[in-house]
Amino acid sequence: MSRLPVPRVMIVGVLAAALGMPPARAADPPREPVGARHAMVATAQRLATEVGVDVLRRGGNAVDAAVAVGYMLAVVFPVAGNLGGGGFMTIRMADGRKTVVDFRETAPRAASHDMYLDAAGRVVPGSSTHGVLAVGVPGTVAGLELARSRYGTMPRAALLAPAIRAARDGFVLAPGDARFLQRSGNGLRGDPAAAAIFLPHGRPLAAGERLVQRDLATTLERIRDAGTAGFYRGPVAERIAATMTAPDGRRRGLITQADLAAYRARERAPVECSYRGYRVLSAPPPSSGGVVLCEMLNILQGVPLRSWGRGSVRASYVEIEAMRRAYRDRNRDLGDPDFVHNPVAHLLAPAYAARLRSGIVARMTAIPVHARAGIPGDDALGPTGREGAQTTHYAIVDRAGNAVSVTVTLNGPFGAQVVAPGTGVLLNDEMDDFAVKPGTPNRYGLVQGEANSIAPGKRPLSSMTPTILTKHGKPVLVVGTPGGSRIITGVLETILGVVDYGLDIQQAVDAPRFHQQWRPRATMCEAGALPAETRRTLESWGERFTTVAPYDHVDAILVGGPALGRAGKGGNRLFGADDARGDTGLAAGY
Ligand code: DON
Repeated sequence: MSRLPVPRVMIVGVLAAALGMPPARAADPPREPVGARHAMVATAQRLATEVGVDVLRRGGNAVDAAVAVGYMLAVVFPVAGNLGGGGFMTIRMADGRKTVVDFRETAPRAASHDMYLDAAGRVVPGSSTHGVLAVGVPGTVAGLELARSRYGTMPRAALLAPAIRAARDGFVLAPGDARFLQRSGNGLRGDPAAAAIFLPHGRPLAAGERLVQRDLATTLERIRDAGTAGFYRGPVAERIAATMTAPDGRRRGLITQADLAAYRARERAPVECSYRGYRVLSAPPPSSGGVVLCEMLNILQGVPLRSWGRGSVRASYVEIEAMRRAYRDRNRDLGDPDFVHNPVAHLLAPAYAARLRSGIVARMTAIPVHARAGIPGDDALGPTGREGAQTTHYAIVDRAGNAVSVTVTLNGPFGAQVVAPGTGVLLNDEMDDFAVKPGTPNRYGLVQGEANSIAPGKRPLSSMTPTILTKHGKPVLVVGTPGGSRIITGVLETILGVVDYGLDIQQAVDAPRFHQQWRPRATMCEAGALPAETRRTLESWGERFTTVAPYDHVDAILVGGPALGRAGKGGNRLFGADDARGDTGLAAGY
């Protein structure tokens, strides 16, 4: 049985070039995790990492650093970092407090179930992904402020200062920063306020040029001076609401000043489960991330992945089928818990995992006899949970052992590709994360049900999975990623790489991944994710595969050593890894 070697070649050049991804890294030597003694920050943008490390050096805690990084990403990583979007922040304080700050966007009060459908009941193409009708009420500023005021130690002004400076003075785009603009910048052309910032010479800014965002600097100063009121009330709120009305006077978007004034970030209890002696904390509904991650881990806990081997037929089969069942449950049953009942206790019950697992294993055992068993139909998946590209992740651990895992998003690249004039704020297109027409696929191919249909004030179901693993009350792994529906399996595979397969944190982050989400029925594979022999065998069992380009960008920190059970050298005890799939990020510490 073939096993996967430790990954070295991460991104196939042709695929990468076609997508405007960083150049092939085939010739690169294997990358080592970045070690540090006291504290570590891993983000998808080097300047944001530097800001986080600086806050930690100055005595700020991990939440202070997370807030400063969050504001900085809004300036230096505009494709996904934001003030005009939302996210989830999982916090595990060294004193044992644990929480998730939910700053997911909400549907405006004037939103309705069928708002993206035409008279014939068809989805109006692009209406939930581009332009002002796609925008949910932003949550980021409320979320960062809530986290800072309850768990941080430093004044707001100190944490915002680097972002204000970078917005006002500008910063020089590195090739990776410019690539996002080259790839998606043309979508900003149709919005004069966005074009003036990102295409000031009539074309997307290029590497070596300076991105200056004066209006954004002013908005950040208003937040510095007035807190959330600097964003949700006053001139910024007025301008965001005014953006909803087109120059011809027609109202095209729904967000009002009242929607903005009413927005609240929330603290929620993390979703928790145990996996091979580790405690897993992750984001609860309205993100599906923690529930789906824990459902998959609960199933996999009962099979000997390590002895079967990474990339082996058995391990790959059970991993794929665990993903299929957990996404089936996600897409049918989960939604904003303020609006629908989420059967979380049932989905995460050990007995439920045991029944799903025994169904998978029984099928697998039967397959050599009944070759070409085919992908299981819904009836064969076992019991259901019924009781009845843009986003970015960052990870921080401070000197005291406080850990923070944050994923923020605008949804698509540069969100709705609209800037509220005079604010510098790019607005999200998070409304597309709802089931805009239940039963039909969204931009990530997710086929979702009524639980995630649109209603006023409701939060769209997310896949963001900012996760922290602890052991004996101390953080061990902080991990998360962008990637749309592929986020949750990206986090799962990074955890399996570290916990089951003995990879160091950089190897686990860089390893090619596969992804199964119930619909479509084929499993999506990055090049090299499965040994050819395993893929052939699984195909002979009836599994189907498609090859997909890399999409996610994991940032992670492992505490203790570069791999579990391996001591760090030179007194280092924190090890960071930024995904080889991107070339903008940096793990750094002190
Ligand atoms: O919340 C979600 O699940 C999506 N809005 C995430 C989108 C995403 O990760 C796109 N990035 N690659």
